[in-house]
Amino acid sequence: MSNLKQVVVIDGEGIGPEVMGETRRILGWLTGKERLGLATRDAVYGAEAYRRTGKIVPDETAEALKTADAILFGATGGPAYDALPAEAKRQGNLLRVRKSLDLFANLRPIVAFPALAEASSLKNRVLEGVDFVILRELSSGLYFGEPRGIENLPNGERRGVNTHSYTSSEIRRVARFGFALARTRRSRLCSVDKANVMEAGQLWRQEVQAVHDAEFPDVELTHMLVDNCAMQIVRAPAQFDLLLTDNMFGDILSDAAAMATGSLGMLPSASFGPPGPDGHRPAFFEPVHGSAPDIAGKGVANPLGAILSLAMALRLSLGEPEAATRLERAVSEALDSGIRTRDIMHEGGRPVGTREMGDAVLAALERGAVRAR
Ligand code: NAI
Ligand code: MG
Repeated sequence: MSNLKQVVVIDGEGIGPEVMGETRRILGWLTGKERLGLATRDAVYGAEAYRRTGKIVPDETAEALKTADAILFGATGGPAYDALPAEAKRQGNLLRVRKSLDLFANLRPIVAFPALAEASSLKNRVLEGVDFVILRELSSGLYFGEPRGIENLPNGERRGVNTHSYTSSEIRRVARFGFALARTRRSRLCSVDKANVMEAGQLWRQEVQAVHDAEFPDVELTHMLVDNCAMQIVRAPAQFDLLLTDNMFGDILSDAAAMATGSLGMLPSASFGPPGPDGHRPAFFEPVHGSAPDIAGKGVANPLGAILSLAMALRLSLGEPEAATRLERAVSEALDSGIRTRDIMHEGGRPVGTREMGDAVLAALERGAVRAR
């Protein structure tokens, strides 16, 4: 067995192959020129996989996902995927992959690049210094709780039901993940709940506090009610370093916070499962955007969400924090030069396509490497 870290790269559909094409070139540069100890392999998923093997998640892909140190995923969905037989979709799809890896911790960093201030709906002075992470519990809570459904009542009315439910172990594992992450940042964690009206929120607050007191007393812990948090994110987002939320609150708050970055095409994400007996932890990195069928195949998609997802993989799963920082700096430099894909375009910007944006990041990496020598 080689002790190289294993990276699996999956394109998916729509703009997936375009944004992952640029991500692959950067990976190639890092392993070739910079000699990072990574073994990269491609795996197929989705419409293309079905065409080749009759399965959306071929056995070989499922096997590769189990052992990968980092999975880099493009996007799925759109007409080619929708046309696949329903039975094939039931047997395997992205949600099933996420479920099988038990990805309970979802990280969405919110970083305001100064060069993109024009693309944000918030004022410049509010954006200054914005650099925080939302850690969203991804495997439980309101989106999974039972009972759920729509029922017909005897009086002729209908009733829709979902259940907001958390167990102490579900809260504790994501809290532990959060506190450990906080230690790698500014050692501050703000836990978000609705403990004033919800019992599940009271349990959330108690369990997070208990994990803190017993295991992470060095991290500064605060609690915030979710409605206040929504307001604070648009009022003064720079106050946050790490927000810990349940599944639904994280879904909603992260969309609001995304506006600090200007575009969906900029946003990376990382999701983690629990470590297995051998200490191996499933880790899945993907841009937040979908397959964007409206622009797919045109070479105009913004690859930076995918490229910044690679930076997260380097830092959080591949033991290469320096390379991650250099890559993030290169993205920042590329933006400083004024080039823009159309989703982040503003007056005076120079319009470029997917490939040219990748070129600019690579060129900035090269310049950084020369400076470091
Ligand atoms: P979307 O994120 O694909 O697109 C929304 C809008 O943002 C579109 O106008 C698109 O052109 C633009 N956009 C997205 N990413 C961009 C990028 N990198 N550069 C420039 N512009 C970009 O969301 P939509 O349209 O709601 O969904 C399209 C398909 O994607 C659906 O089939 C949906 O199910 C799927 N989807 C998949 C996700 C995933 O793979 N994790 C996540 C979200 C949606
Ligand atoms: Mg959402």
